[in-house]
Amino acid sequence: MNCQVKQGDINAEATEVLVLGGYEDEKTLPKTYQGLDKALGGQLQELRKNGEFSGKNQQTVLIHTRGAVPAKRILLMGLGKKKDVTLDRVRQAMGTASKKVRQTGAQKFSAPVLGADVVSASASDIVQAMVEGAILGGYRFNHYRSDKEDTSKEIRSITLLANSASQVSGMKTGAKRGEASAHATSLARDLCNHPANVMTPTRVVQEAKKIAKESKLKLTVLERKHQEKLGMGGMLGVSRGSQEPPKFLILEYSGGKKKEQPIVLVGKTVTFDSGGISIKPSENMEQMKADMTGGAEVLAAVRAAARLRLPINLIGILPAVENMPDGRATKPGDILRMLNGKTVEVQNTDAEGRLILADGLSYATRLKPKCVVDIATLTGACIVALGQFAIGMMGNDDKLKAELTKAGEQAGERVWEMPLWDEYFEQLKSDVADMRNIGGRGGGMITAGMFLSKFIGDYPWVHLDIASTDWGASERPYVGKGPTAIGTRLLVQFLINRAGNS
Ligand code: BES
Ligand code: MN
Ligand code: ZN
Repeated sequence: MNCQVKQGDINAEATEVLVLGGYEDEKTLPKTYQGLDKALGGQLQELRKNGEFSGKNQQTVLIHTRGAVPAKRILLMGLGKKKDVTLDRVRQAMGTASKKVRQTGAQKFSAPVLGADVVSASASDIVQAMVEGAILGGYRFNHYRSDKEDTSKEIRSITLLANSASQVSGMKTGAKRGEASAHATSLARDLCNHPANVMTPTRVVQEAKKIAKESKLKLTVLERKHQEKLGMGGMLGVSRGSQEPPKFLILEYSGGKKKEQPIVLVGKTVTFDSGGISIKPSENMEQMKADMTGGAEVLAAVRAAARLRLPINLIGILPAVENMPDGRATKPGDILRMLNGKTVEVQNTDAEGRLILADGLSYATRLKPKCVVDIATLTGACIVALGQFAIGMMGNDDKLKAELTKAGEQAGERVWEMPLWDEYFEQLKSDVADMRNIGGRGGGMITAGMFLSKFIGDYPWVHLDIASTDWGASERPYVGKGPTAIGTRLLVQFLINRAGNS
């Protein structure tokens, strides 16, 4: 989908569908729509008056204009009460609008900046959200279906209409960012949608190679031999039971000054999590193909930073493994020596994410990072605590936490902080090693974060647990069933904000 921005008037816009927003608590038709209403013989007024279009959030009404105005159709899109309209409501409205437009068979549509009079955000930020919603609302994964949908009916372009010439350049920036972050999300969704028999650690390397080539990034892959030499006990321990060799990926984008310290992102990349010897119940186990969501998001965010040419130095780390039971697999009670020299008693082989992340976080120390953010489908306890609408956040630096909180608000992928108090480490004590990899029943998301905190270096760090949000149970306006890749836009927004402040 191609996104354009131009100065334009809704009365004169010749397009297949013109999308117009409406509020629930709007008594009369807004002045800006009166020209269209007049040309349409009062249809818009009438729909309002008789309640057919009430402006309720997510409500849609399609009108055929039959030559009365240059736009072939008008899609009225409800945004709800004015005080409730947020950037994410606008994103959701565009997700629904783009689905409706596709149903009509139209291939292009236009819209003015939705909610501009009530959302406290710049036209650029609103346009970014609109583009994200429009692109992601149309996301589908049909790679393995023989009954592929007719792609000739895809929406080809959207045009966003600026009120004044002075708005155009800001809106263009917003559209570019929106495209980059939506395409990053689609990429991450694709990677997680591919089944685990295809998307192995080796295949993740191939995908990363493609991206590195296309975006001129430096990719280093540490193979098992190298991991052994370095002493990456977490990587080696988790992958022991798998036929798929473990891969440790380091992807570098240098858009900043030469000497500037890099931002480092670490993403859990477990291409399938069976639980290992502590095997999971079979119900929903197929969803564990998405246990690589963190890594997919990191890969996608690095690509987005490169596409946007952000003036930052950025390194993405993907510890990629498959967690399987086998005669050689790591067993409960086994002790691993990790990259930073600490020993871990593995009491549950299903708590594997923290083991590979531990090596990732220790490795990050060598890169002298400005800050490190790790992102992982880490704990079922995160789902219990937060449900599906918040990402769990822990960390050691208030400023970095505040940055991620803000980026989450902007992206519509909100985080919620959990404590990382020393007392929680009590639960991770082992009788035979420096620590164990599980912390018992209480505070499972926190003890996982606490575990990770023992492997970080002297850098500001935030851990994001996305186990709550990574799998969609039902269809939402711009998030479908299955892998959601929620967290991608949060990371991209964090990087955009960093670039603006550096
Ligand atoms: N990948 C899972 C966490 C998960 C569960 C993500 C459900 C998404 C949906 C993780 O590796 C795991 O198995 N965690 C265990 C840890 C426990 C053994 C301490 C869990 O949460 O049950
Ligand atoms: Mn697990
Ligand atoms: Zn896992």
